[in-house]
Formats: sequence, C-alpha cells, structure tokens
Amino acid sequence: MTVLDLERIAAIRSDPARCTRAVDAALVDRSRPFLPEDQTQLYYTPGYALLDREQRIRYNQLFGLRVNEYIMMLEREFVDPVLRALRRRARRFGSASLVRELEAMREEEAAHYDAFAALNRRCEPESYAASDYWFMQLKPYERAMIAAMNAGARFLPFALWIIVAMEESSIGLATAMRRAGDTPLGGLDPHFVEVHREHAKDEARHIHVDVHLVQACLHTYPSGWRRINARIFMAFMRDMTAPKANGTGARVVRQLVCEYPSLAEHESRLVHGLTTLGENVEFQRSLFNRKLTPLAFELYDREPVFVHLTDVLPGYDRSARAA
Ligand SMILES: [Fe+2]
Ligand SMILES: [Fe+2]
Repeated sequence: MTVLDLERIAAIRSDPARCTRAVDAALVDRSRPFLPEDQTQLYYTPGYALLDREQRIRYNQLFGLRVNEYIMMLEREFVDPVLRALRRRARRFGSASLVRELEAMREEEAAHYDAFAALNRRCEPESYAASDYWFMQLKPYERAMIAAMNAGARFLPFALWIIVAMEESSIGLATAMRRAGDTPLGGLDPHFVEVHREHAKDEARHIHVDVHLVQACLHTYPSGWRRINARIFMAFMRDMTAPKANGTGARVVRQLVCEYPSLAEHESRLVHGLTTLGENVEFQRSLFNRKLTPLAFELYDREPVFVHLTDVLPGYDRSARAA
C-alpha cells in the first residue's frame, strides 16, 4: 500500500466530502442487527447455535455497542496521550506539516469519541445515562500502560504499532458493514452503519499520518528499547485477541442472559466458548490480516524483532512480506 505524502493528506483533509461529518441524530431500528455476524465473537463458537434469531439480533446489537465503546476507549485513552506526547518529537524529527496533521488528528478523534458515545446513548439511553461505558473497563495493567504513556514518550513505539492496526481495523469494519447487504439476521440498522461509514473517512487519512509518525520517530529510539517495546506490544496483542471469562465480551454475553433468562442454563457454555477464541485461527485471522491491516503489517515487516509475531497474531503472514 502506498503511503500518502503529508501535502496530499492535507489536501484530502480540506475536502469536506472526505472528512467525517456529524451524522444527524436518528432513532435506531431495534429490530435490526448492527454488525455483520462475523464481526462478533460468539459467531465463532459452537454456543452461537444455541441462540434463536431474536437472541442473535440482540446479542449482535449489544456487541455493536461494545465495539463502539472499544473504539472510544482506544481513541481517548491511547491515541490522544500518544499524539500529545509525540508532538515534541514530531517537531524535532519530522516537519511542521506532520505536527499540523497530528494536531488535526487529535481534534478529529475527540469528535469521533463524542459521536460514538452519542450513538450508544441513542441506542440505550438508560444503560448509558450515568457513564459512556457499559461494558468496557480498563484492566490495571492497561491503566499502568496509559499512565506510562502519559508520563513520557518511552513507550510510544509500542503504542504506535497498536494504533495503526486498530485504525485500519475500524476502516475494515465500516467496509464490512457497508457491504453486508441483507445478512441472515436481516439488513443492518442504517443509522449505525452511517456513523461508522463517516468515522472511516477520517481514519483513512489517519493511518497514513501514523506511518509518517512511525517513520519520523521510531528510529530515534535505540534498538534495545525497540526490542523491549516489541515485547510489550506482543504481550498486549496476545491479551487483547484472547477473550477472557471476565472480559468485555463475556460481559456482553451476561447481559444477553439477563435479558433472556431462558439462556441461563447455557451461560457457562457460552462464556467458555469465548475463552477458546484465543486459539481459534479463523477468529484470529478475522481480527488482523494483510488485507484488513496492510499498513500495520508493512510496519511489522520492517521490524526484525517481529520475526515471531505470527505466534501471537496468526493472521500475520511474515513470509508474504515484500522483499
Ligand atoms: Fe477515530
Ligand atoms: Fe484515528
């Protein structure tokens, strides 16, 4: 994939049609799914067969809310501190145009957070009355990592490698939603799809800014420090791609069981299914693969320290990297 130069990125950003615009508030259709089924976790487990059509639609909606929360958490807790901490390095090792794009990106991410929080609130006003988060809760080590990122720039290579992959995933999700058409559960809610489609417009530029940031900043870290960051990155990705019995995905399942008490007898089976996904190659390849996250994979290709990354991300095919 060709990386856009900073002038081209700025030109695209000046075209309102290619920037995320605020979507008019609309009611969501509670009879429709929010996501393609293969963008949910239970879909990849035997337990999915235990749900009837109505339960699958409700699970799909709840998981869709959790997906929005995940994007919000990432953009506020990860992307913003990293971009803030990178300003000085971007100025010193990059260029004025890189700093300008970095600042624009921060503003855009703040607007994205608000858009997803508002969407979730429109879907479930009561559940989001007191907090923007219903399912997401940061783990202690994630909080520690965020505190470290806020305190200094030393963990930034680790964070940049994550951000590129996540931003590319959010574009892939919007594309999958747009192409979904009539799913076995029916057509997706058009308002939900529209918010994601708009979000992907800014992200399509951000992934190129990310690569410029990596190029400007990464070489400024000694190779030993990059190796340590690579280890942290792999531990983080391994953890993030392996749903836990007490994780956010399981919380979604427990909410479904609350709403459908007839599922209570299957709760442990449903949750256990999620805990096997860390070893489920089909699920793992659905999260990250060269088609979905090409720029992230190109960055990983360039790092000798990622020679064993496939052990953590089965969708990462190092052998397919360009010579
Ligand atoms: Fe965003
Ligand atoms: Fe972004």
